[in-house]
Amino acid sequence: MGILRLGYLHVRVTDMAEARKHYIETMGLKVTAEEAGKVYLKGWDEWDHHSVVLEEGGVGLAKLGFKVQSEDDLNTYENNARTFGATVERMSKGEELEVGQGIRVTTPSGHVVELYNEITYLGNEVGYLNPYPFPRHETGISVPALDHMLIMAEDVALNEKFFMDTFGMYAVEQIRPEIDSPARIATWLSAGQKNHDIAIVSGKDKGLHHFAFQLEDWSKILRAADIFAMDDVSIDITPTRHGITRGTTIYFFDPAGNRNETYAGGYRAYRDRPTTIWTPEHIGRGIFSHSRELNAAFTEVYT
Ligand SMILES: [Fe+2]
Repeated sequence: MGILRLGYLHVRVTDMAEARKHYIETMGLKVTAEEAGKVYLKGWDEWDHHSVVLEEGGVGLAKLGFKVQSEDDLNTYENNARTFGATVERMSKGEELEVGQGIRVTTPSGHVVELYNEITYLGNEVGYLNPYPFPRHETGISVPALDHMLIMAEDVALNEKFFMDTFGMYAVEQIRPEIDSPARIATWLSAGQKNHDIAIVSGKDKGLHHFAFQLEDWSKILRAADIFAMDDVSIDITPTRHGITRGTTIYFFDPAGNRNETYAGGYRAYRDRPTTIWTPEHIGRGIFSHSRELNAAFTEVYT
């Protein structure tokens, strides 16, 4: 059984024309479907129908979806969610475009999480038969895939427990107020060998701090920042490294003000590893390894 990955997220954007320019021309995502007020997108190395859905009107996260391995997993996670006391309902085929039946769970923080195991297969852009390493003609920074996301919660420890007990995730890294404290300032949770599929940080319930796209390596991070400069993207944090996860990163905003990240590297995580613990006096270095300073806007500005 298991969660395979963060499959999709729906993000609200104030102006669809501007959002399309950002996500299609600068980020290089491809349009796979359109409906009234919605645009469905995927990266070139994603096989499933969509990963990012733009919804016109407002700003912030509408919902997210985890793809699970089997239909049995849906029953397991439904039971787990009920046992935890979370709100859970069945989702019928087609409620999410091109997605089969599933379950819809509301986390203690009020985030809507859908779980599904069927979605229309489109294939990636290089195929699975003797493929080349990347598509010949790239657009913008040509992100291969969605990687992870970071949500806000008023009670991080409770929501960490929810993701662990309900979805079987494990904590890879945590920021605790003190080494032995049961409280959490932030937590990075994995369902498999990614160093995080989702992270939760202390803040307003239902909040979205950012969602991140994979890039291959540090040279692609540098190139992405150069393209952001050309396209006048609002850069929040220029290329650097995280102490937490060791990933290399850029933070920037879409035209609506949703924070995006490009993420490369970082270590592979295993379920039998100890959880890495960070204490408040080292948060600056944990988040930004070089500047060792956490600016207030980074923690206080989110959608
Ligand atoms: Fe991130």
